[in-house]
Amino acid sequence: MATTKSNFVAVREFIRERTGMVLDDSKNYFVETRLQIICKEDGYESVDELMNTLIRRPFSELADKVVDQLMVNETYFFRDNAPFKVFEEKVLPKIIEKNSDKKSLRIWCAAASSGQEPFSVCMIIKDKFPALANWKVEFEATDISSQMIERCKSGVYSDVELRRGLPPSLKSRFFKQNGVNWHLSQEIVSMVKFSQLNLVRPWPRLPKPDVVFIRNVLIYFDVETKKKILDNLMRLLGPGGYFFVGGGEIPASLGAAVESLGSGAYQVK
Ligand SMILES: C[S@@+](CC[C@H](N)C(=O)[O-])C[C@H]1O[C@@H](n2cnc3c(N)ncnc32)[C@H](O)[C@@H]1O
Repeated sequence: MATTKSNFVAVREFIRERTGMVLDDSKNYFVETRLQIICKEDGYESVDELMNTLIRRPFSELADKVVDQLMVNETYFFRDNAPFKVFEEKVLPKIIEKNSDKKSLRIWCAAASSGQEPFSVCMIIKDKFPALANWKVEFEATDISSQMIERCKSGVYSDVELRRGLPPSLKSRFFKQNGVNWHLSQEIVSMVKFSQLNLVRPWPRLPKPDVVFIRNVLIYFDVETKKKILDNLMRLLGPGGYFFVGGGEIPASLGAAVESLGSGAYQVK
């Protein structure tokens, strides 16, 4: 039975209100196939039945499940490579110089997905900056999806996930095979504190980070939401703070307030 068009509209509006993510008509197939997964798990007879329940109960366990299912969690280790080079060669050396008295480094990864991004950063720190071993390194990683946060905490990845972007030297140094999966060393997993945070809701009080990774998430928001999040971010970082966004995610209007370091890295002026 075909899913009712008005239900698609209502679910897309629910997602926009809850997460800021804009889904247009072309995403109906994506919505339908993802919601079929919940139907199978929870025994709904049709996507329509699930949608009707969701519309009646927008603050329920089902609602959280729908949010989890409809997020795009695409990620991989050292995604796009160049930003991580900029972090290693330009950004981190500058922060180390600036913070050498207090010996502290604070990083926030604001759309962690299944953890490959924050763990890539941690591996750079451990592998390339041994002098930071006696620094206070605080690393927060957040995502709207509770499922993703649980995955991050496990530090477990498949062979396919490791083959996407992870250099062999880091694989042999930091991962151990366990059955068909690979377990990331606790030395790395324990560097990061993971929690749920919705970027489009008021942010909790966050300590001022030195650098923020907020890559490949702004692209899903409308212009106004994107601007609000970037304004919050710039306020949190303050002058001199660094942040990384995905390709094309920064609106031209922000140009005067930041200095580009290339590959999606910016410093607040
Ligand atoms: C495409 S992934 C990007 C992951 C990683 N940053 C990267 O570049 O590989 C986007 C992530 O943003 C998260 N997300 C979407 N809307 C969000 C929101 N309103 N607040 C926080 N995270 C959100 C999704 O759950 C997903 O894990």
